Amino acid sequence: AEIVGEQQAKLTLPPEVPPPIEREDATKLIVDLEVVEKEMRLADGVEYTMWTFGGSVPGKFIRVREGDMVEFHLKNHPDNKLPHNIDLHAVNGPGGGAESTFTAPGRETVFSFRALNPGLYVYHCATAPVGMHIANGMYGLILVEPWEGLPEVDKEYYVMQSEFYTEGGYGERGLQPFDMDKAIEEDADYVVFNGAVGSMMNKNAITAQKGDNVRLFVGNGGPNLTSSFHVIGEIFDKVHYEGGSRVQENVQTTSVPAGGAAMVEFITEVPGNYILVDHAIFRAFNKGALATLAVSGEEDENIYTGQQLDRVYQPEGGAIQELPQEKRAIPTASTTEERIEFGRETYMSVCQACHMADGSGIEGAFPPVAESDYLNEDPDRAISAVVHGLQGEITVNGETYNGVMPRQNLTNEEVANVITFILNNFGNEGGEVTPEQVERVRQ
Ligand code: HEM
Ligand code: CU
Repeated sequence: AEIVGEQQAKLTLPPEVPPPIEREDATKLIVDLEVVEKEMRLADGVEYTMWTFGGSVPGKFIRVREGDMVEFHLKNHPDNKLPHNIDLHAVNGPGGGAESTFTAPGRETVFSFRALNPGLYVYHCATAPVGMHIANGMYGLILVEPWEGLPEVDKEYYVMQSEFYTEGGYGERGLQPFDMDKAIEEDADYVVFNGAVGSMMNKNAITAQKGDNVRLFVGNGGPNLTSSFHVIGEIFDKVHYEGGSRVQENVQTTSVPAGGAAMVEFITEVPGNYILVDHAIFRAFNKGALATLAVSGEEDENIYTGQQLDRVYQPEGGAIQELPQEKRAIPTASTTEERIEFGRETYMSVCQACHMADGSGIEGAFPPVAESDYLNEDPDRAISAVVHGLQGEITVNGETYNGVMPRQNLTNEEVANVITFILNNFGNEGGEVTPEQVERVRQ
């Protein structure tokens, strides 16, 4: 196509996407992207020094059109510590632009490329050590709209998965440095959408109305893991798998490889909350790969009724049923310190699955054991929850929960350790529980 005029590209922060391109011609499109290194929230109480394209992780969304001549300006903020460059998978040319954009702090580089292939592409920094630049947040998406445009939809959002490798484990507070050994082992502490745990939850959930056609531009920055991208309670009507031109229909879960992308589309037939996950499911519930799409509108019982029945079913009698658990030998603690240490192990292997590694629980489902008034007011209640199980309505820090905690098959020693660990961590008030105390509660 012939290039007509020039324009400044409008870039957006996640989860927003720039509007569809409506001009008639291919143009010279100027893209300005600034690298900024700064501390950002990775999870509650956890900070991380992110290296960003445009001040966000993932970087700003770039939308160009097939045939455009893109004039790319990479700027490295003078306060940054390191040189960076950019490899855009939408580029035909050496390094995807990386060879032309090595940029020291306080410098700007420019190169141009013709957007030849329509599709959704990842861009990332490719400065050595490449893995580290990516692991620190240097990736984003660029859409090359096909010449004729994409079919019109009601909502478009930008969702990008990636992992973080931190010196401390999941939820460990403070400014967490990058851990190269874990990155090499592909042993991620965090797997997240849009750069942080909970980036699109509660008041930051993405939204739609019943009947909307929703398009998600899904990317995966990696650096290592392939995403099994899934929306709980939805079926993708269409998937541009791998971000390309072909469309697959009626898909439950689509693979998005590291350094790859997909465009998914679906109609939101039923109101409610839809949870975006990496269906490699421990990543979702234990490492952060969760986001919410909140759909508003009228119920339609012809499509989904909601619960129609809830009644008692107890084939083995009234006792709360226990989860089978393997027995492991636990040494006897001789000091409070040891009790806390052994208790941490039990917590991480048993309790963490529901109450989360940082004790924060899951809103509406599992109460926090962090800063828990329920726990601090009477540790015997916590002991009882563990040895007898707990069900029925309880209030923890002003929130009500009405769930079922299965009784845990642990020895008195183990229960004493785990409650002592909790009391002395997660902002709780301290104290020590002995096996004798557990035995009394057990009786
Ligand atoms: C409630 C501790 C394992 C699910 C509680 C409470 C404590 C506690 C202290 C009282 C409320 C609070 O302070 O937050 C523990 C410990 C565990 C453990 C020490 C490991 C030894 C689990 C597991 C699950 C679970 C594995 C999920 C399968 C729940 C639920 C409640 C609860 C649903 C609220 C029950 C209700 O609404 O009545 N837990 N928990 N807990 N826990 Fe656990
Ligand atoms: Cu870089």
